[in-house]
This record gives sequence, structure tokens and C-alpha cells, in this order.
Amino acid sequence: MGRLRISELDNIDLAKRNIFVRPPEPPEEVLMADPTNSVYIGRTKIFHVPFYWTFQKTTNPHIAVVGITGSGKSYFVKTFLTRASFVWGTNAFIIDWAGEYKDWVKQTGGKVISLARGAYINLLDTAGMKPNDRIKQGRTETSRGNE
Ligand SMILES: Nc1ncnc2c1ncn2[C@@H]1O[C@H](COP(=O)(O)OP(=O)(O)OP(=O)(O)O)[C@@H](O)[C@H]1O
Ligand SMILES: [Mg+2]
Repeated sequence: MGRLRISELDNIDLAKRNIFVRPPEPPEEVLMADPTNSVYIGRTKIFHVPFYWTFQKTTNPHIAVVGITGSGKSYFVKTFLTRASFVWGTNAFIIDWAGEYKDWVKQTGGKVISLARGAYINLLDTAGMKPNDRIKQGRTETSRGNE
């Protein structure tokens, strides 16, 4: 059987051959790491390879969590911080405008500092105000509360 030389094929023929198409997933040695020195994130979609994140493997150790509403961003942040705390004893500083991490931080032995205590809109003050003016009032109250 004669050997097929790649140089004899044009690009279109090459692209049609699945063997030359790399699946859009990093190789296992990049995805997997020592579980005692990394944080388990989840399994990859195509090959279900467990992905362990470690700052030692990245050029800079920054993470952005994106997804539509209800896709699990907040849940992920909580599990990530919990695991990082177990593995490396990592501390976290959470700036939380909505107060959604408050209960979890208390449960996990963290400290909640409320900077905006007393910053609220007095409903009696808003009577007859245009929505735009109310928004501005809320902003002023909040910035005062933060001082
Ligand atoms: N990995 C998971 N396993 C099981 N349940 C999960 C998981 N991730 C998220 N959930 C559940 O899905 C719901 C939505 O998750 P979450 O609040 O984290 O989403 P979100 O992306 O932060 O949403 P939003 O954009 O509204 O803040 C919650 O009830 C959460 O408990
Ligand atoms: Mg959320």
C-alpha cells in the first residue's frame, strides 16, 4: 500500500479528514493537576476530563466567571473559595453589593462588615418624586452611608 504524502493534498481535502482536526479542548496534562495542590473546577464537555485549576500553571492568576442568569456563577464562586481555602488556606475579600454572600460567609466562619448600614431611602421622602430623582436620592444616601 503506497503511503499518502500530506504535501499531495490540498487544504480542503485535509480539513475533511477528521484525523487532522484537533478537538477544541486542551490536552489532559494541561487540564489535570495534583488535587492536593489545585482546585477542582468540573469536567470538560467533550471528553469529561476533570479540570483542576492552579495558579502555578497560568501566566497570571486571574479568573472571570461569566454566564447567563441562573447558570451557577455565584454557586461556583462559593465552591471555588471553599476549595481554595481547604487546599491553600486562601483568604477571600468579597465586595458584595446585594448581600447575597452574607449567610454563606457567616456559615463558613467569615466576617461580614456592612459599610452601608443606615443607607436607605426614606419612603416618606419619595412621595411625588420623579423616578429619576428617586434614583439620584438613593445614590446620595448610599455614598453618605459608605463614608
Ligand atoms: N453545580 C451546581 N450544582 C447544583 N446546583 C447548582 C449548581 N450551580 C448552581 N446551582 C443552583 O442553581 C441556582 C442558580 O445558581 P446561581 O445563583 O449560582 O446562579 P448565578 O449565575 O449566580 O445567577 P445570577 O446571574 O442571577 O446571579 C441556585 O439555586 C444554585 O443553588
Ligand atoms: Mg449570582
